[in-house]
Amino acid sequence: MDIHKVRAQFPALLRRQDGKPVIHLDGPGGTQVPQTVIDAMSRPLAEGQSNLGGPFSSSAESDQVVADARSAVADLLNANSDEVAFGQNMTSLTFAVSRAIASTWQPGDEIVLTRLDHDANVAPWLRAAEERGVTVKWVGVQDFGINWDDLDAALGSSTRLVAVTAASNALGSVVDVAEVARRAHDVGALVYVDGVHYVPHESTDVAAFDADFFVCSAYKFYGPHIGLLYGKREHLRTLPAYKVRPAPDTGPGRWETGTQSFESIAGVVATVDYLAAFGEGDDRRQKLVSAYEEIGQHERRLSDRFLSGLAELDGVKLHGRREGRRTPTFALEFPGQKPRDVAVELARQGIYVTDGDYYAVEVMRSLGQADSGGLVRIGFVHYSTEEEVDQTLNALDRLS
Ligand SMILES: Cc1ncc(COP(=O)(O)O)c(C=O)c1O
Repeated sequence: MDIHKVRAQFPALLRRQDGKPVIHLDGPGGTQVPQTVIDAMSRPLAEGQSNLGGPFSSSAESDQVVADARSAVADLLNANSDEVAFGQNMTSLTFAVSRAIASTWQPGDEIVLTRLDHDANVAPWLRAAEERGVTVKWVGVQDFGINWDDLDAALGSSTRLVAVTAASNALGSVVDVAEVARRAHDVGALVYVDGVHYVPHESTDVAAFDADFFVCSAYKFYGPHIGLLYGKREHLRTLPAYKVRPAPDTGPGRWETGTQSFESIAGVVATVDYLAAFGEGDDRRQKLVSAYEEIGQHERRLSDRFLSGLAELDGVKLHGRREGRRTPTFALEFPGQKPRDVAVELARQGIYVTDGDYYAVEVMRSLGQADSGGLVRIGFVHYSTEEEVDQTLNALDRLS
């Protein structure tokens, strides 16, 4: 991977502060966008776009772009095009799907949530459970991943759903979602997977996961602000979607409320093509799988470099795995300093990091960090460089 060529495609990476290039380490909160995606989004706005289903060319183009985007996301996730729906963001999609799934629950049913998850895969289910008189069982955080004993203890013949993240947006830990699904399916429960922090870093295969649902957000992987929903065909077809009457009764359109952002949907196609261009293969799916190997190698190099530098710093504590499957996302504590103060000082130096709980409320509670302002989060992505890792370590050294 030629990192200079990669970065040259992102106009936003030219941002400077006090004459120095900014270091964007806020990727887990949202990434920057390559020029091809910007062009794909501006084209329909500049050239004219219309709503779906009209007998004229600008409408036919919108129909086509939606079809192209379903097929692009299907390649990205290893799904079928009719199993892909679009929505405002992952949170809105999850509220919508949880409401529909919950309408099939009975009092006395149970659902399983994890404390590793972002609140977008917790709060919608808590609300639905409360409304339906359903019991919530919790899976705790252990070794920065999920507690498998808790999972086994929680599952039973009354379990209707397990909601789990594929990767923690706070700690970077990757979860063996296929194994969660295997155990959940053994008791007949559905599995709803939050892939928001996973898709920017790992090749996704919803078929191999055997996930019933998988949700992610294009703005976390170099695309526009739009949410993507995968659902197994039988679920998307049969669950009672909350929709207006004239909206489609069949296909993924059942789940798309109102008029979608066609410019964002156009951007999704360009985003998937941007990622695929890193790889080799006979078709886009193969290229994507190989692209993620390239991206993964680079990100692992950055992670290893950061972790070994961090080990030399006395005044910083990592909350997360040093080994094992993880994304290059690191939650750090600076004993004696408030996370916000650290983030402000780094921002002053042109290093953009986030602080707080990043909506991973249960994670911060589990780590005992909820009442002290959370943790500082440093997130590298495929366009981060080794120089940026070193500059960040130097800045942390000065702070610690
Ligand atoms: C792991 C994870 N899940 C869900 C979300 C919510 O995504 P969205 O902003 O698309 O609703 C985020 C956003 O930060 C996230 O990091």
